Amino acid sequence: MLKVIIDTDTAGDDTTALMLALRSSNVRVEAITINCGNVAFDQQVENALYTVELSGNSGRVPVYPGARRPLLRDWQTVEEVHGKDGMGNSFFPKARQRPEEKHAVDAMIESINKNPNEVTVIEQAPMTNLAMAIRKDPEIVRKIRRVYFMGGTNQYLGNVTPAAEFNIWVDPDAAKIVFHSGVNLTMVGWEICMKYGLLMPDEIAEIESLHTKESDFFIKVNSVAREFLKKSTGIDAIPCPDSITVAMVLDPSIATSVKKRYVDVDNQSEISRGATWVDELAVWSKKPNMEVVYEASKSKFRSLLMKMLKGQTI
Ligand code: BDR
Ligand code: CA
Repeated sequence: MLKVIIDTDTAGDDTTALMLALRSSNVRVEAITINCGNVAFDQQVENALYTVELSGNSGRVPVYPGARRPLLRDWQTVEEVHGKDGMGNSFFPKARQRPEEKHAVDAMIESINKNPNEVTVIEQAPMTNLAMAIRKDPEIVRKIRRVYFMGGTNQYLGNVTPAAEFNIWVDPDAAKIVFHSGVNLTMVGWEICMKYGLLMPDEIAEIESLHTKESDFFIKVNSVAREFLKKSTGIDAIPCPDSITVAMVLDPSIATSVKKRYVDVDNQSEISRGATWVDELAVWSKKPNMEVVYEASKSKFRSLLMKMLKGQTI
């Protein structure tokens, strides 16, 4: 049984990513931790709790609120991408389960120390919580099995600025700490998600026709994200960056090309705040500090997703 902690700024596709892990028979979700990011913090907490309930895990998977702000900077939430509630303006009722009292950073540290070398951390949000956990207990670095993160770009095709992807842009200082901590890392960058993690109109229509509670939920929470992508890029599709990242954890063969690279992040300049520099030609001559995904199997990802959306255990 794979043990995971999922750090999330729960909105839109974050919920599908959570559902995939919560519905996997090979995975035990030790904790869901909430980091500032997509929409208002308390709304993100509610969105995670609602998703846990919908997945049939009410009371079994704890949700820990964490960093309400990045380490040093201000950022803007993105209600225009995910809707006012982050859930495609669905305004779901509050779940019965309530958030834990313990801070996400302490929950992470405790879970990792209790299960040395067993916990995979999935970062589908800015990395403030993880950076704080590493600063508070540096020993966890060698006890984390691996961190998979949805974030950054392989070749500077950003979604929030031309240079940067949102999760890393929100808290580049946290990313700096994590990248240089020595923890095992796998990066799933924005262009890879746009290439292999986009659902096109025929696939969306297939999902609509399922009429399961999972598929109805999926369509609702991603409705504003679909409109936003169409308006901003002309592409009619639903982007699933966090979901394809979780899918790679559940089935590592979904990542079909992975290379070891040295990657740094710009936390110095304003214009390229949060840009991830992948040293493709090894001109810095530095030891690689992470694995970077270059190619993925869309068909394997889609099969896994469809199984979950049909209401099946994956
Ligand atoms: C990432 O930023 C957030 O908006 C999404 O949830 C995803 O994790 C994409 O850049
Ligand atoms: Ca996210």
